[in-house]
This record gives sequence, structure tokens and C-alpha cells, in this order.
Amino acid sequence: MSPVILVSNLSKVYASGFEALKGVSLAINRGEIFALLGPNGAGKTTLISIICGLVKATGGTVTADGYDTVTHYRRARERIGLVPQELTTEAFETVWDTVSFSRGLFGKRPNPAHIEKVLRALSLWDKKDNRLMTLSGGMKRRVLIAKALSHEPQILFLDEPTAGVDVELRKDMWSLMRSLRNEGVTIILTTHYIEEAEEMADRVGVISHGQIILVEEKRELMRKLGRKQLILQLPEPLAHIPDQLNNYKLALSSDKKELIYTYDTQQEQTDITTMLADLRNGGIRFRDLRTVQSSLEDIFVDLVRETP
Ligand SMILES: Nc1ncnc2c1ncn2[C@@H]1O[C@H](COP(=O)(O)OP(=O)(O)OP(=O)(O)O)[C@@H](O)[C@H]1O
Ligand SMILES: [Mg+2]
Repeated sequence: MSPVILVSNLSKVYASGFEALKGVSLAINRGEIFALLGPNGAGKTTLISIICGLVKATGGTVTADGYDTVTHYRRARERIGLVPQELTTEAFETVWDTVSFSRGLFGKRPNPAHIEKVLRALSLWDKKDNRLMTLSGGMKRRVLIAKALSHEPQILFLDEPTAGVDVELRKDMWSLMRSLRNEGVTIILTTHYIEEAEEMADRVGVISHGQIILVEEKRELMRKLGRKQLILQLPEPLAHIPDQLNNYKLALSSDKKELIYTYDTQQEQTDITTMLADLRNGGIRFRDLRTVQSSLEDIFVDLVRETP
């Protein structure tokens, strides 16, 4: 299957001299939901903005449905819907007008039935005659989505669609994304919420310092995320881990005051009980213990640390 979005060796140096993307290559499969994760400033919005033609790349190419986004801009762009990260809306326009106007921008004939369908799907139908300035933040975000869907795109980019929205709206967005995917729309979203990637994504990509450092099936990533640590606080620093405990995945903290046991939560059985018994037999006592579940944040930190 040919990828619907193909990003090849993309680089971006902003006028300030800042290198926001460093040779990014990425293929998005038709019909998948792809979550792009990364810490603040990693380059997610820059990447999306270049794909959507809002920002000019310094080097590299992007094709959307086979069309180069620079040399065949209109053909590429009409296939793409973008829900931007920033809420900028025309305060005095009505919901209906702003969404209809968006469709017109792509040279599509008016289609009130489609606009109505989109507004209903986003629970905006009863607000269609409201001016945007009278809407709440969450409703404005729905309007951005309606605008992005106004011209029936095959590819939808959502840049932090659920940042700062309530649980209900987040769930609505998830179900909307699912139904779009069922209609064959390819969805690329950025998010800081692990539940969102967990819930929605088929594949996950991680970007850090302008480089894609991981692209993986979600299930595989979840397996990695499933790691948990048991941390034992020692009464006094331990010089090294005794040889008889070599069977366990144990590590000492840098101050040597904590013994860290890493295990996989999806594993049917852990050997915690025998490990604790062996510790006792080895004369190692501990004052307290706690467990830590590795979060996506931890994974980022680990990955980022490994990035040259
Ligand atoms: N117009 C610009 N001029 C100079 N630097 C910029 C510009 N836009 C973005 N940057 C820088 O490029 C880097 C990447 O920014 P970008 O907005 O792509 O990050 P992001 O991954 O979307 O972050 P966030 O999670 O905060 O949305 C940041 O260091 C940012 O400061
Ligand atoms: Mg961003």
C-alpha cells in the first residue's frame, strides 16, 4: 500500500537561525490514525504546518496522495483538513458562515447538506447562527474542526485537538475521529495525552529536537510503556548489587540509596516475592518501598536522553 503522506528528509531553519526540523522522513499509511508525540518545542506544529503548506521547508519534500505539496500545492492541499493548535477565529462571523467560507476556500461548490452534517456531528447545529465571540473555548475548538472538515478532506491533521478541553468533548472528538476513520479518512494527531494515543492511534511516532526518534505500532509501544518499577529505599547506601541477585533486573540509584527493580506489568507473573526473599537472605534491608509506572513522559525523557 502506498503511503498517503510521504515526508522525505524534511528540514526547517527558521529566520532566527533555529533548526526546528533536522531531516525528518515519515510515511503515513492510508486510513490509519497516527499519533505524533513529542515534548514542547519538538517540532510537531512545524512539521504539520509544512505538510499543510503554511510554512515553507528549508529542504526536503512532502507528497500528499502523490501530489508534491509545493509544486502541486492546490491538489495536495484540497485533500487535507487541518485543525490548528491555536484558536484563531473571526470573532464577528457566525458559525455557519465561517464553516461554509472554509469550504469555499478550497474551490468546492457550496454543499449545505454537508455543512449541516458536520455541524450536527460536532453538536454545533443549535449554535450555527451564533457569532464566534459568543462561544466557549471548547465550542470554538469544535468550530475549528468543522472548518477543517468543511471541504471533505481525505486526510485530517489535528494539532493538539483535546488540549484544555473537558472530558466530554474529548470523548466526542474520539468518536468523531473513529467515524471519520471508518469513512476512510487518514488521521494524524499530535497530543500530550497518553490515554489519547492509547485510545486512538494505530501507530505512534515520537519527535524530539526536530528528529523522529521512533515510529511504532501502538501495541508495541504499549508493551514498552507497560514497564513498572519497584523502588526500595535502603537505610544506608549500598556499594554494589550482590552477585547472588544478578538474576533480577536490579539497578542502584545514582546516590546508591535506592534499589530499583524493573518489571513488565503485562507479564503474567513477576518474581517480586522471590526477589524480596533473596534480598532478605542477602542481608539487604529496606526502609520503604514504592512503585512507579513509566509514563509516556518517562519514555520521552529516556528517548530524548539517547538523542545525540
Ligand atoms: N516562527 C518561528 N520562528 C522561530 N522559531 C520558531 C518559530 N516557530 C517555531 N519555532 C521554534 O521551533 C521549535 C519547534 O516549534 P513547534 O511549534 O513546531 O513545536 P511543537 O512540537 O509543536 O511544540 P508544542 O508541543 O509546544 O506545541 C521551537 O523551539 C519553537 O520555538
Ligand atoms: Mg505545537
